[in-house]
Amino acid sequence: MSSEFDSYSARYAELLKDPLRDGFASAAFFHARKWILIDEYWRRRGRALSAIDWLDIGCGQGDLLRLGAGQFRSAAGCDPSKEMLRPLAGAVLKHQESPASLPFADGNFDFATAVCVYHHVDAGLQPQLTAEAARVLRPGGVLALIEHNPWNPLTRAIVRRSPVDVDAHLLTAGRCRELARGAGLEAPATEYFLYLPEFLFRHVGAVERALRGFPLGGQYAVFARKP
Ligand SMILES: C[S@@+](CC[C@H](N)C(=O)[O-])C[C@H]1O[C@@H](n2cnc3c(N)ncnc32)[C@H](O)[C@@H]1O
Repeated sequence: MSSEFDSYSARYAELLKDPLRDGFASAAFFHARKWILIDEYWRRRGRALSAIDWLDIGCGQGDLLRLGAGQFRSAAGCDPSKEMLRPLAGAVLKHQESPASLPFADGNFDFATAVCVYHHVDAGLQPQLTAEAARVLRPGGVLALIEHNPWNPLTRAIVRRSPVDVDAHLLTAGRCRELARGAGLEAPATEYFLYLPEFLFRHVGAVERALRGFPLGGQYAVFARKP
């Protein structure tokens, strides 16, 4: 299967450049901020990352995997775009032959993420992809769907201008919670982030953390647990 992202991969970083986006934060910060969110999620639950097997679905060029791979017990990624996948020390990477099936055995992971993936997936395939994510989790495992927030005007403007988002259909957090429940996952909880531009977050990150329950951050994460 070829993917639209095959044709973006060689110029991916360049295609993401946008004065609006770059004025808000550096490219690296968008990944670093997600890593902070994930790390804090597991710390709040008192779980050591070194006891967790992690899968990043739609890992693309592996920016998030690069930040987390050394910290989890194991790290893996998959993507339908062969061209996006980059070899990465400490992570198992697999090409996904189909958009709604994952190339891993049942119950292989404690944690799965899909970061800025679902807005590129046909709405009709989203339930099947979520069921696949649930299948590869162990009981008690957690799925995190991280997406652009359509309720944030700056996010909508950046997505509208981005050449890699020509096909994007943004999902509300409510839709992600519905997908999680539909796949049999429990207690979906939403955390909003990217309220503050990078320089402010670095100084007053506590303000952004205090706002995590308000639905206006630039992106959100829906965490849901397999019974
Ligand atoms: C915007 S990029 C995000 C990449 C990476 N998660 C990140 O945050 O840098 C979207 C990625 O989703 C992948 N993708 C698209 N459809 C997918 C599907 N059905 N299953 C998994 N990944 C998919 C694309 O190939 C692309 O690598």
